[in-house]
Amino acid sequence: MSIRDITLMGHPALMTPAAPVDDPLSEATTSLIEDMFDTMFAIGGVGIAAPQIGVSQRVIICLMRERKFSQPPERDDFTVFINPTLTPVDTEMVEGWEGCLSLPGMQGKVPRYKQIQYTATATDGSTLSGRAVGFPAVVLQHEADHLDGILYPMRMTDMSTLQYHDPVRRLTGRASMATSMEQEIDNELAQATDDDNREQEPPLS
Ligand code: NI
Repeated sequence: MSIRDITLMGHPALMTPAAPVDDPLSEATTSLIEDMFDTMFAIGGVGIAAPQIGVSQRVIICLMRERKFSQPPERDDFTVFINPTLTPVDTEMVEGWEGCLSLPGMQGKVPRYKQIQYTATATDGSTLSGRAVGFPAVVLQHEADHLDGILYPMRMTDMSTLQYHDPVRRLTGRASMATSMEQEIDNELAQATDDDNREQEPPLS
């Protein structure tokens, strides 16, 4: 099993619909899933889709509990969905910051359905179905979109929120700041982060 390179926005695997998995129990599928886990854990993602390691197959992995910075997720906190289908429970939407492993350094506010019903095949070949609400619902929608060639900016309704995550980079145009600028930038940062009322980095998936 191995850590694979993440495909970036513009890669053909990310821009086209992925093919259904014919045999969820095959060695190829099992090996794909292990590589997805290894790669996702190496980067600290909350989810990953097979096209993000260049494999155009309908497999996603999602963190299925709320995100807690004090409690890094373990493997049991994730669920593998093979050939997933998502259906919104109702029309209620929530908007939150998202990031994506395939658009490094960027974040944007994305509207998502608050509750979704899912069905998929599990890694043992059984049927997986249930309802997700809140954070897991967002991750599921983000990952399932990867299987249809959709990246989060394509779901955004306010493109003015598409920005670099790192506030220093955003406000200065560089990755690190000169000492003389520190106080000035600190003030701006305090303002920016208060305004956004956001905690640490957006979920990467
Ligand atoms: Ni993503």
